[in-house]
Amino acid sequence: MNGAPNKWDVFKVRADFPALGTLARGKPLVYLDSAATTLKARSVVEAVEKHFLLGAANVHRGVHFLSEVATRQYEEARAKIRLFLNAKENAEIVLTSGTTASVNLVAKSYGTFLKDGDEVLITHMEHHSNIVPWQMLGEERGTKLKVAPVDDSGEIILEEFQKLLSPRTKIVSFVYISNALGTVNPAAELIRLVRAHAPEAVVFMDCAQAVAHVPLDVQALDVDFLAFSAHKLFGPTGTGVLYGKRALLEKMPPVFGGGDMIRSVTFEKTTYAGLPVKFEAGTPNIGGVIGLGAAIDYVNSVGLEAINAWEQELLAYATERLREIPGLRLIGTAKKKTAICGFFLDDVHPHDIGSLLDAEGVAIRAGHHCTQPLMARFGVPATARASFSLYNTKAEVDALVEAIRKAQKIFA
Ligand code: ALA
Repeated sequence: MNGAPNKWDVFKVRADFPALGTLARGKPLVYLDSAATTLKARSVVEAVEKHFLLGAANVHRGVHFLSEVATRQYEEARAKIRLFLNAKENAEIVLTSGTTASVNLVAKSYGTFLKDGDEVLITHMEHHSNIVPWQMLGEERGTKLKVAPVDDSGEIILEEFQKLLSPRTKIVSFVYISNALGTVNPAAELIRLVRAHAPEAVVFMDCAQAVAHVPLDVQALDVDFLAFSAHKLFGPTGTGVLYGKRALLEKMPPVFGGGDMIRSVTFEKTTYAGLPVKFEAGTPNIGGVIGLGAAIDYVNSVGLEAINAWEQELLAYATERLREIPGLRLIGTAKKKTAICGFFLDDVHPHDIGSLLDAEGVAIRAGHHCTQPLMARFGVPATARASFSLYNTKAEVDALVEAIRKAQKIFA
């Protein structure tokens, strides 16, 4: 069992991910890039395949049998997402192409309520997709972007975060789990501070990285908007979710006009459909959404708490092993972390580490991880990043460490 506790059978889990049997550069694949995208569960691929092979009709349009089946499966997936997030109603679940689309939707739509001088607060550890849409909003409407700093371990400095909140703050948008550092932010505490010090602000949570690691409960958090992508949850690419409280979504204007999002159209005036289709113009990614429903079924069958417990064990082991390597600096050492290890080596550029590890069959990501301001904060151009998921083993951590040592020898 490779050191796994009895309750967690990592080899049983691995059998659910056929890609783990791949040979990479002639070596057994060691996949440590789940933060970029997770491998896909067999049951997800089978659900998508079934949709395309047996039906693939459009949704919300046809009266015929196949369209009815597709519509039922699509809406069942929405209901599964609602339960997964503990949202009050299906109407609060908007299906998008991913987290990036969800942030942009809120910036473009809710952003129309903002005016010159209003403030949007983010943090220094945001992904570009939670920075650029707010900058674009600033260019359109004159809003100001404020940035809460992080400390040397990669934690938000709460006193500074609080100081940046005021009645001028209209949107606070923060990442729950940092894709580059692994930091798990104190979401409940941040939201409590927003409510106390920025009474007019709505809160948006980027849960792209969090969704496969920790349970999300929008009602317990009392968050206004929350987004995630299916592809980081063992599901397909091009599919994602925007959760929004009904009262907010109802008053927000649609961003895209087209089919399905209307109630009636004349050349003089168009009226819009109700929630959530008001925000879902055009034929959606039906196969992707069905795949996301299957991904949620998969995660529920394994259990997020058990996943998290195993990943914490992997994180502790990986941190200990990486710290043994001379000249290796871990970037991201927050007290509360998920299994993401960003690191920098004195003598080897992260891209060279990435290539040398690849030659050993070890897949990591090297680069700025779409967090250039964060890299600048830590004084590095890029990091190498190993990110773990439920299917990784301690033997794979050992393979990572061995491959890094080999890379160091080459550059010595
Ligand atoms: N945001 C993804 C990552 O962290 C792509 O790699």
